[in-house]
Amino acid sequence: MTSAADALSLNASPLSAEQLHTLQQLSAGASDAALWWISGYLAGQAALRAPQAAPKANAVSQSRLTVVYASQTGNSKAAATALARQAESQGLAVRLVNIAEYSLAELGRERYLAIAISTQGDGDPPDDARIFLKQLAGARAPKLADLRYTVLALGDSSYAKFCEIGRKLDARLAELGGSRLAERADADLDIEATAAPWRLSTLSAAVEAIGRSPAATVTLLRPVTAAVAAATHWQSATVYANQRLTARDSEVDVRHLELSLGDSGLRYEPGDSLEVQIDNPSALVDEFLARSGLDGDASVEHAGQRRSLRDWLRSERELTRLSASLLSAVFAAHPEHPLQAAGNSLLDTHQVVDLLAAGRVEWDAQRWVAALAPLKPRAYSIASAQAEVGDEVHLTVALKRSHGAGIERVGLASGHLAALAEGAQVKVRVEANPRFRLPRDGSRDLIMIGPGTGVAPFRAFLQQRVADGASGRNWLFFGHRHLRSEFLYQTEWLAALKRGQLHRLDVAFSRDGPERRYVQHVIAERATELVSWIDNGAHLYLCGDAKRMARDVEATLIDAIARVRGIDSEAASDELDALSSAGRFQRDVY
Ligand SMILES: Cc1cc2nc3c(=O)[nH]c(=O)nc-3n(C[C@H](O)[C@H](O)[C@H](O)COP(=O)(O)OP(=O)(O)OC[C@H]3O[C@@H](n4cnc5c(N)ncnc54)[C@H](O)[C@@H]3O)c2cc1C
Ligand SMILES: NC(=O)c1ccc[n+]([C@@H]2O[C@H](COP(=O)([O-])OP(=O)(O)OC[C@H]3O[C@@H](n4cnc5c(N)ncnc54)[C@H](OP(=O)(O)O)[C@@H]3O)[C@@H](O)[C@H]2O)c1
Ligand SMILES: Cc1cc2nc3c(=O)[nH]c(=O)nc-3n(C[C@H](O)[C@H](O)[C@H](O)COP(=O)(O)O)c2cc1C
Repeated sequence: MTSAADALSLNASPLSAEQLHTLQQLSAGASDAALWWISGYLAGQAALRAPQAAPKANAVSQSRLTVVYASQTGNSKAAATALARQAESQGLAVRLVNIAEYSLAELGRERYLAIAISTQGDGDPPDDARIFLKQLAGARAPKLADLRYTVLALGDSSYAKFCEIGRKLDARLAELGGSRLAERADADLDIEATAAPWRLSTLSAAVEAIGRSPAATVTLLRPVTAAVAAATHWQSATVYANQRLTARDSEVDVRHLELSLGDSGLRYEPGDSLEVQIDNPSALVDEFLARSGLDGDASVEHAGQRRSLRDWLRSERELTRLSASLLSAVFAAHPEHPLQAAGNSLLDTHQVVDLLAAGRVEWDAQRWVAALAPLKPRAYSIASAQAEVGDEVHLTVALKRSHGAGIERVGLASGHLAALAEGAQVKVRVEANPRFRLPRDGSRDLIMIGPGTGVAPFRAFLQQRVADGASGRNWLFFGHRHLRSEFLYQTEWLAALKRGQLHRLDVAFSRDGPERRYVQHVIAERATELVSWIDNGAHLYLCGDAKRMARDVEATLIDAIARVRGIDSEAASDELDALSSAGRFQRDVY
């Protein structure tokens, strides 16, 4: 059937009836992404056939669009690649470059720039962008009066600092005098829904501003979705063991899980994470339905998919993790909600059902499905090396507890994993992390800083180093609340020390003394030795909490380098950046 809006546009169409029919047939079965792609492709064909304006003198005909990406897990890279391919297919001269290889000097000469950049940690840049952004924020940043730019900010609206880095970059480029080629677009986890229209507006502005380059090769586009980083398939893993690492009377419940990958053929390397896919428990879905007064059997269509509300809630929507965008929508609709004043602080303490327990939210099923964030897999740093454990994978999982509505609730994945019995199955896939890798040269020393569950990948590192017979020394900094009850893998570390496989172990138990003592306090005390290890070529690793720990530890590392070398903190910070660029300072923080 043709809608009124369709009929209007069809009446105005210059197509023959036959051409119209073909177009309608093509669009009927196409997904949203395919429709956006087709529209871009056709616009490109039109641009190709359009009579070319006489090239304006010199530079303009040589102008190109530079597409830069800054990416941790590949999404921004895929989005930038899709733009570059599409630009190329439209006859634009284009180059694609990673931000780590892009300098301020180049930026100063740039005329047309598109940047895709994600936000990581707690509103932090992806690793490859850290140095560039630091320089861009400094006094030596170039004036950009000739620059026309656009930013695609990638993020996840469940984080309080949604797309923070893309927003800041966009604002900084404007502050330096740049003007927008197209408006910034903030992409949530359904990236293509935002990236496709951004590509379209960027390309139409770029074609108009730059014109086609006669020299550009016209490459037919592959479907855009093909550019998205391929993840390994979900596989079933079987629980071999689930042991509590913390004492029975500890307030913290941390589990050591051993999973069998069986004959799945899954391979991983030390530094990789394992993603687990878990549905919301039925009891939680039932509680949501009871508190919202909605019918679980109601059929809801959203983004071209139709399923019952219960199915949406069970396997497609976050119920344990609130998002900043959900909170603002609820409070905009219900300014009288009793939790309004708490704002984004609820993200750390409340689940979706806690919101409903505190006050009414008069939404229908459709509105809830649209407002709740899509359910995401959870990642866990792999705590084993296959050289040691073969077809097993080990994890170190801290049970996440919250008490928002006065009722104890557990995190979706950590709650599920902590309760798994031997023989249970769980859906997993490997997320490779090429930015967190052991040095190829086994004679290099390692300094590993991993408080809490941040210690997990270092168990894998040590297993691998032992299996490889690596001759470099291994130094571990570990911290948790109490020596007696939260010293994760204590016996393994002590045995490794005794065997000469671990050469230094420094610990900080935050709640054993009158004042909080953290790993960075020990690092400060060992500054001279730590810097001498760095001078000796050591590789430095940091893993664990992004919100506070990682920032504080980095500040301490900078301070330690500055003190020992007698330099100012800017020079020490540059030294840490240089280590990072050389792959000798790697972080995996969450
Ligand atoms: C690369 C990577 C590696 C990781 N490795 C490990 C690991 O080795 N071990 C490990 O235990 N975890 C690890 N994590 C964290 C893990 O992925 C989960 O985020 C964590 O287990 C909580 O998930 P959940 O489903 O149990 O809780 P959720 O269901 O996501 O959340 C439950 C409750 O926790 C609170 N909460 C949610 N998000 C936050 C937040 N950002 N800050 C504070 N409170 C919050 C809220 O009250 C929420 O209602 C890693 C994360 C990443 C990205
Ligand atoms: N709700 C929150 O805001 C919150 C808090 C902590 C962790 N988390 C998350 O919970 C998950 C698991 O945490 P985890 O098991 O790895 O342990 P963790 O809670 O991060 O704690 C490990 C150790 O780090 C200490 N610590 C706290 N602040 C620190 C800082 N600024 N610098 C250095 N050390 C610091 C803790 O001390 P003390 O606890 O004694 O201060 C504890 O001794 C992670 O995803 C983490 O991001 C969330
Ligand atoms: C550990 C971690 C922290 C994140 N922190 C934020 C954040 O603070 N704000 C945000 O908008 N998105 C955050 N994200 C979501 C990413 O930006 C999002 O997944 C994006 O698509 C990643 O793109 P990339 O693969 O190009 O890095 C975070 C993701 C991870 C894994």
